[in-house]
Amino acid sequence: MENITFMMIKPDAVENGFIGNIIEKVTSAGFKFKALKLTQLSKKNAEKFYKIHKDKLFYEDLVKFISRSPILVAVLEKENAVSDFRTLIGATNPNDAAEGTIRRLYAKSVGENAVHGSDSHENALIESSFHFASVDLY
Ligand code: RTP
Ligand code: MG
Repeated sequence: MENITFMMIKPDAVENGFIGNIIEKVTSAGFKFKALKLTQLSKKNAEKFYKIHKDKLFYEDLVKFISRSPILVAVLEKENAVSDFRTLIGATNPNDAAEGTIRRLYAKSVGENAVHGSDSHENALIESSFHFASVDLY
């Protein structure tokens, strides 16, 4: 069943005290938490997590940003989890994100945009396993 996605509340949003507000938006939208933890990525693990972007110009800044302070990571469950969560968080650039979306409300820039959501079911499984080796995802 393709009903999970992986969420990360990024360093900027944790630093700015938005964990509670974001969790409230997520649960109000009908997502259930299957796994949840506060953690911090080492530079090496940040490089691994975002390796699909390794050839992009912003890769080094992204790795530095995502590893600089704690993040909240979770596996979320809901029908159409991947696409519904992408809708809830809004466009990558908060200036383009729709009114009421998490990035519109809590992000300031494209580089520091408050949350991550998986872009496919396959990546949801990869990203969830990366952080939660012991969780049964199937
Ligand atoms: P995410 O993976 O974090 O959910 O974001 P996304 O799918 O909306 O965007 P993606 O293209 O996967 O980019 C991953 C993250 O890289 C940073 N980024 N910076 N400075 C820039 O031009 C730039 N472009 C992307 C963002 O933090 C983006 O979320
Ligand atoms: Mg992405």
